Amino acid sequence: MVQKRATQIGVGDTCIDENAKKYVMDALNNNRLSYGKYVHGFEKKFAEGHNVKYAIMSNSGTSSLQVAIQALKEIHGWKDGDEVLVPALTFVATSNVVIQSNLKPVFVEIDPRTYNVDPAKIEEKITPHTRAIMPVNLFGQSCEIDQVLGIAKKHNLKSVEDSCETMFVKFKGKPVGSQSDVACFSTYVAHLLVTGVGGLSTTNSDEYAIAMKSMVNHGRDSVYLHIDDDKGAVRDDKENFFKLVDRRFSFVRMGYSYRVTELEGALGMAQIEKWPEILAARQKNAAYLLKNLKQFEEHLQLPWWPDYAEHAFMMFPIVVKKGAPFSRKDLIMYLEDHNIETRYMVPLLSQPYYIKLFGDLSKEYPIAAHVDENGFYIGCHQGIDQEALDYVLEVFKDFFKTRNSK
Ligand SMILES: Cc1ncc(COP(=O)(O)O)c(C=O)c1O
Repeated sequence: MVQKRATQIGVGDTCIDENAKKYVMDALNNNRLSYGKYVHGFEKKFAEGHNVKYAIMSNSGTSSLQVAIQALKEIHGWKDGDEVLVPALTFVATSNVVIQSNLKPVFVEIDPRTYNVDPAKIEEKITPHTRAIMPVNLFGQSCEIDQVLGIAKKHNLKSVEDSCETMFVKFKGKPVGSQSDVACFSTYVAHLLVTGVGGLSTTNSDEYAIAMKSMVNHGRDSVYLHIDDDKGAVRDDKENFFKLVDRRFSFVRMGYSYRVTELEGALGMAQIEKWPEILAARQKNAAYLLKNLKQFEEHLQLPWWPDYAEHAFMMFPIVVKKGAPFSRKDLIMYLEDHNIETRYMVPLLSQPYYIKLFGDLSKEYPIAAHVDENGFYIGCHQGIDQEALDYVLEVFKDFFKTRNSK
């Protein structure tokens, strides 16, 4: 039996390196906390990495999703009560922002292998009131975005992609999030890039970008979203300069205070420079876990992805299969007892608040309900070294040994 280790193997890693500290100190030394070179630089690099025109940073993935939905609602004149399709398995925020925008989430069943939305189940949920779909890329893996967008196009729906758990990796050669009307990402603790709090909305549309940027800034007139926006304005031209002065404290739509500071931007810049390293370490760790956990595949469903997609492995999801001689609880208890942190696989429909709103939907979405009841994940991030990986595998082996000896 393996000896319990003293330190926990967590589901995420913060990895603040010397470069990150240097950038943060630089931001502080510049005496500039509001939008400046770091947030701007991070947005620019993030947009380039996803092959899109704009990336707009906000204080969370949820805020980015919310301004995306509300910008589209405003621009396309959606009415309160209009419907938005949301996968039946996702983090609550995807669906919460729909409800908060006075729209109605309509859930779509998931694919049992990838846990992302099942394209074959989308059309049955489309009604004359459907306005958009929110495909979600869970755990580091893109959904079948080409099929989803094909259906969206056929039915004239917009797509707001929740890619909070997946960045930079390609699906059929294109970066995740690069094809939807808007895609949103999170840089919250334990995500792929970590800035503490933070989110980004990406788009190729000038109109969406302006509206989302404005909503992050209280609904401010886009002529003046940051303190540098009047730099270079000709003060000698009194009339035109006054027009600018007038508009720089003008609020043209309902907005929010969702801005970030240069401190998050500095962390983002440092992390994005390390992205290839972060991704390679995660993929290597996940491949090792996958190879060595295959011996338990009779009872454990391990990550699967098609050969035309890459997986960023924000985490390593596992589902206890039907008929296994143990429960998810037994396995989780064993792992947690051995200092291996676990989390459930983003249950949505079983959340107390969702049951209150929609009742018990488990029969309507049996695959999501199965994952919801039997799925969990462990970490496979860049902070987990070979010794820790081998420890995790030993703990799994011991668990199965204890089961077989019963
Ligand atoms: C799928 C998904 N959507 C949205 C979010 C929300 O991101 P944030 O925590 O940055 O608001 C998360 C983050 O945890 C997520 O995993």
